[in-house]
Amino acid sequence: MISFSIYVVDDEETITQGIIMALETRYRVEAFSTAEAAIHAIKDQPPDLVLLDIGLPGMDGIEALSKIKNLCPDILVIMVTAYEDLNTVISSMKLGAYDYVVKPIHMEALEVTIGNALETIRLRKEIEFFQERYLRENVPCFVGESDAIQDVMEFIGMVAKSPDTPILILGETGTGKELIANAIHYRSPNFKGGLMTMNCASIPKDLIESELFGYEKGAFSGASASGKKGLIEEAANGTLFLDEVGDLSLEAQAKLLRFLEDGEFYRVGGTKKLQIQTRVVSATNKDIDTMIQDGTFRKDLYFRLGVIKVKIPTLNERRDDIIPLAKRFLYEFSKKFNKEFTGISEETQGALMEHVWTGNIRELRNLIERGILIGRGPELNLRDIGMEEVNRGKVSEQAKDEISFTALPSTGIDLPSVQKSLERFYIEEALKIAGGNESKAARLLNINHHTFRYRRKKLGAG
Ligand SMILES: Nc1ncnc2c1ncn2[C@@H]1O[C@H](COP(=O)(O)OP(=O)(O)OP(=O)(O)O)[C@@H](O)[C@H]1O
Ligand SMILES: [Mg+2]
Repeated sequence: MISFSIYVVDDEETITQGIIMALETRYRVEAFSTAEAAIHAIKDQPPDLVLLDIGLPGMDGIEALSKIKNLCPDILVIMVTAYEDLNTVISSMKLGAYDYVVKPIHMEALEVTIGNALETIRLRKEIEFFQERYLRENVPCFVGESDAIQDVMEFIGMVAKSPDTPILILGETGTGKELIANAIHYRSPNFKGGLMTMNCASIPKDLIESELFGYEKGAFSGASASGKKGLIEEAANGTLFLDEVGDLSLEAQAKLLRFLEDGEFYRVGGTKKLQIQTRVVSATNKDIDTMIQDGTFRKDLYFRLGVIKVKIPTLNERRDDIIPLAKRFLYEFSKKFNKEFTGISEETQGALMEHVWTGNIRELRNLIERGILIGRGPELNLRDIGMEEVNRGKVSEQAKDEISFTALPSTGIDLPSVQKSLERFYIEEALKIAGGNESKAARLLNINHHTFRYRRKKLGAG
């Protein structure tokens, strides 16, 4: 059973004592005689509910209410007022109070009000629980173990809570922007409304407007006779995801901006003004700053869309995710192609770790898909993913003959550290010969420039 905690804020001790006695068998109750003391405690440990007297010495209840709502919007606040002053009651409701009770407090009535409030909290927690479960079950392929992606997930968990704030997802191609947009929707209160996605790049420019805003019957030739709702209407109280938003025409940008500013729009060919609440999440892999300079993207729209910006790190910046992702895709495609792959060979894992992923997760996914399709298993090896030539270049073959190795001592060696030293040694030698030019040095070692730079940085060579 969920155990709720309640803070009672009143300067009259007889009142706080009475409330504590009535409630303490069922809830954890703490009393404070000033708003300042209560707010201090809330910062440390937020309760589920606050019973807040309006006429307090020092900071009054109304000011305290707005502070509490700013600190923790989730806390429910019940105002306690000495007389039913309608104006005060209205202003506290506007500031987000859940309900109010009038002094002298009728304990049974108070208990009913508290019971209702806590039921609201219980339902809210239940929804959060199901949202989490839905997310786990429906976006099962989301892999994110690196600190970089964990930070992103924590951030979106926070910003998803406010249902109206537009969020702009930025990141290179294939970094998972679409999955992140999904995660935002399923973690937000808009979860109950629908998630509607429009790919601005794949819809012909002259259809974008009617897709987005809908149209009235007879709006244009070819329009359905009954008219049609647009995605904005379909996404009412939910999320509208505008993918590849950098591809919107300037005309569509102007209309979208108007909608974002006041939530109002007209269907194409319509005269009735419509108003809808939905959260707009957008994504792009384009460099919007450059587009703004070129005049192809409106700066004001950029600010509107990007009230909150989320930058998804590249796969190269989150290398801890490479192997878990590869294993996930191995599992996914083995099942899909009905093949029995049990794992990824050590050297293949090494090559995946060293590769520079310009196409990010999509590139990795495609590579594993191809490997499973053509490989025999049971392990995914270098040949399956087309990476074996890196290790067997002509120069290396020739060079191998020229390198002399010492015999293995009877006590053995620590091969991984020998490998590292050897690699560092040759990277430094190659840099010396190439006069510090990385491309030349990479060629001397028969590896590509990106791999060279990555290995050099990793080993701290040169
Ligand atoms: N964290 C992740 N876990 C598992 N799979 C992922 C993850 N992130 C992305 N993917 C997969 O990688 C592929 C590319 O992701 P997505 O389409 O979301 O990229 P994108 O950032 O929208 O790219 P683009 O800018 O090219 O549209 C998809 O198949 C997606 O399922
Ligand atoms: Mg995408």
